[in-house]
Amino acid sequence: MPAPRDPAPPSRPAGDGGRQVPVSVWLAGQQQSRLQRRGRYVPASIAHPGKMLPALAAHAIATYTRPGELVLDPMCGIGTTLVEATHAGRDAVGIEYEPRWGFLAARNLRHATHQGATGHGAVLIGDSRQIAPALEAELAGGVALLLTSPPYGRTVHGQAKPTPGGGVTKWDHSYGRDKANLAHQNTGALLAGFTAILRGCLPLLRPGGTVVVTVRPWRHAGLLIDFPAAVLDAAIRAGYEPVQRCVALLAAVREGDLVARGSFFQLQQARAARAHGRPIHLAQHEDVLILRRPPEPPSGLAGHLAPRYRAGTPAAAVRRAA
Ligand SMILES: C[S@@+](CC[C@H](N)C(=O)[O-])C[C@H]1O[C@@H](n2cnc3c(N)ncnc32)[C@H](O)[C@@H]1O
Repeated sequence: MPAPRDPAPPSRPAGDGGRQVPVSVWLAGQQQSRLQRRGRYVPASIAHPGKMLPALAAHAIATYTRPGELVLDPMCGIGTTLVEATHAGRDAVGIEYEPRWGFLAARNLRHATHQGATGHGAVLIGDSRQIAPALEAELAGGVALLLTSPPYGRTVHGQAKPTPGGGVTKWDHSYGRDKANLAHQNTGALLAGFTAILRGCLPLLRPGGTVVVTVRPWRHAGLLIDFPAAVLDAAIRAGYEPVQRCVALLAAVREGDLVARGSFFQLQQARAARAHGRPIHLAQHEDVLILRRPPEPPSGLAGHLAPRYRAGTPAAAVRRAA
């Protein structure tokens, strides 16, 4: 099966002894998303309305972790982070609120194992606000990378096509019916919930461990909502230090030109705005926010830290959670 191609060569973060300078534009859209997933994910995965691009996840994992390290996604959906991590020889833990997506993530992990993925993975189903703190005894300080993507509130997701009568048929546009899912909250509650999740995950990361959050700006009533800036603020309030802000290109780059990959809803919004004299453009990127858990204080102070802030043994912990 074709692995998602990651055209940008893996680079190490600055200061990590790497040979390459980190790139700030990630090429995540060289292949269409369905081609990136074909054969690598079970077909039912397509029903999730807000999946991460596999090439984006693969690039983050290659850049910020080494084989054998542990990756966590506290909002794992159908498990893109987990699948790409285990294919890259990393271990992975995911948490997902909706049983439907959590079970699909587990199926995708088994599929990856059958295809030769060497990492171990586990999926826990429930609210990350409660589950992440409960994992502290097992995982404290053992996570090298937290890679996740929050749901985008009430924005329009999923598949759609115009019908002959002029209407639009939509499907696979909902995360589920449970109103407590953060996807169904207003923006303020979504951000508060996301902050709580990130705060609960902080002790699970090793000191200096990386957080990568991918998030798209969206339009409401014609205005571009800078949701990524609000998410960055939420992550800082949760206790993380900002490191870098990158973009993942959703468009393909072909011989120096961009080949746009607009969704039906994006195209519809752009056409409607242009018809009203507002020359808006299609957003062809996703923000990639990079932060880290603050490093430990100098060694003189480290001996006074509670044991929960010292690094653990991730692989063993994952096998117990599986
Ligand atoms: C943008 S999607 C993530 C998709 C995932 N990256 C993938 O590729 O499949 C966000 C996910 O967060 C889940 N979610 C919402 N509230 C949650 C919570 N409190 N705890 C855990 N997961 C939650 C949603 O059900 C949704 O599947």
